[in-house]
Amino acid sequence: MMSRHLLVAMLGASLALVSGVLQAQSYNAGSAVPKMHYYDIEDFGLDAGSTTYADDIAPILQRSCQQCHRPGGGGPMSFMSYDEVRPWAPVIQYRTAIRDRMGAMPPWFVEKNIGINGFKNDYSLSDLDLALIQDWVEHGAPRGNPDNEPTPLVFSDGSEWTLGEPDLILRSQDVTRPAIGPDWWGDIGLVPTGLTEDRYVKSIEVREINDIPADIGTSTVGGRYIFHHMTYRSGVLNEGGTAVSGDITSWPIHEVGRNADTFPEKAGRLLPANSALHLYAAHLHSNGRDTTGHLEFGISFFPVGYAPEYSRRGPRTGNGVDVDILPNRANQEVHNYVVLQEHTKIIAFEPHLHAPGVRMCLEAIWGHNQFTLNCVGYDHNWVKQYIYEDDKAPLLPKGTILHTIGFLDTTAGNPNLADGRNWAGGGRRSVSNMFIDLGYSVSLTEEQFQAEMAIRRANMKDRNEYDIGCPLCWAPEPVEPGIAGSD
Ligand code: HEC
Repeated sequence: MMSRHLLVAMLGASLALVSGVLQAQSYNAGSAVPKMHYYDIEDFGLDAGSTTYADDIAPILQRSCQQCHRPGGGGPMSFMSYDEVRPWAPVIQYRTAIRDRMGAMPPWFVEKNIGINGFKNDYSLSDLDLALIQDWVEHGAPRGNPDNEPTPLVFSDGSEWTLGEPDLILRSQDVTRPAIGPDWWGDIGLVPTGLTEDRYVKSIEVREINDIPADIGTSTVGGRYIFHHMTYRSGVLNEGGTAVSGDITSWPIHEVGRNADTFPEKAGRLLPANSALHLYAAHLHSNGRDTTGHLEFGISFFPVGYAPEYSRRGPRTGNGVDVDILPNRANQEVHNYVVLQEHTKIIAFEPHLHAPGVRMCLEAIWGHNQFTLNCVGYDHNWVKQYIYEDDKAPLLPKGTILHTIGFLDTTAGNPNLADGRNWAGGGRRSVSNMFIDLGYSVSLTEEQFQAEMAIRRANMKDRNEYDIGCPLCWAPEPVEPGIAGSD
């Protein structure tokens, strides 16, 4: 007869098997319904109920939330003091546990359990941060000893440049939107740079200045701005000052809530003498009050005489035109493949979908290897660029196939969607779809590629250490043909 113990063990094993299968199925990567990330504080060696605002939570808020959640910041409420934070505790627990799907706070959607970990200005929360928040809320969100609270951060008036005072500030013309009106999309003209010599740009930050009072409450970011987004480029001004031509440079898109752009040391972007910005495609949106505003461009330069080592840009990936999105269906996937014609270093990943988008992954296929470089959740209310740390940026040999995968959800489970009942193709309007990576990369010569890989190898302990972004890091250096294998 089968012993009781064995029976229980077998039952347990088969239950585990079933629940394992169920668990795998219940996580839909292409669904807007989030998988929550809950942790047990005891797994981190801490006692349940020991977390306090003063000791544990305030430092997290300072690091990851207050840049927006403060008076005059982009967030709808202030989290500067215990009294301000306390009523929001349960919502904070919920929004932070979403972690990497639409609705997550802070808005930073990189999936941490797959691919490369190493992005600049990463203000996301660690597993321990989440465990602390959850323990704190579940035990009544206590304040603890106010003397232990960190010194409050001091922010200026909310209009400072996040990258510091720029070398050059340019200004667009004023535009006005009525309180209520259709969206407007078009060209808002040229902005001469006034430069008398060629300069290379190190960073650029765009901000909207308008006449909406800072102290009025708005429930959404959209209520504070009229520029929804704008694409722009630069070139040399013609004699009449009516157009730009020559080497046209595209600049990273301006979008509400998007971070500033810093170009890598070796890949500054040219703004030539006598150039102008051409603001050729601005999308303006009425926000409920008559508003006049303009954009300011804060530009910082590399020193005079600087020349970029990497000047060639890598390929564009994605497909903005030929997308076919079905109504009322989760887990839809769109795919795009690009074969790299040159060795390539990926500097930044910027998934761009429209309202149905929930996630984008970037894969590198090289020979028979297939690497997931990163998967990133997508929330169409937040357009984020993720810039790799220099020593984590993917270094891919020519011939690599870059595979981008977009995941979309057009069911009612996706709160970003106005109406999921219609088929939708590609297009610029928000009710149409896009599937592109707005990030950027640079092409490397053979020498530059080898030099970059040598730096990476020097950072690794030994050959057993593997760098996802560097498939050839441990490959033997190529030998000139004719020398290899000759006796
Ligand atoms: C980059 C700016 C930014 C950062 C950083 C940020 N927030 Fe937010 N937060 C917003 C904006 C804007 C909204 C309103 C729009 C939305 O809900 O997405 C919001 C909404 C919220 C809400 C929902 C409020 C409601 O009405 O339900 C909570 C809770 C929240 N944030 C908590 C946090 C916490 C906690 C952090 C840090 C761990 C954080 N946020 C970091 C900008 C930010």
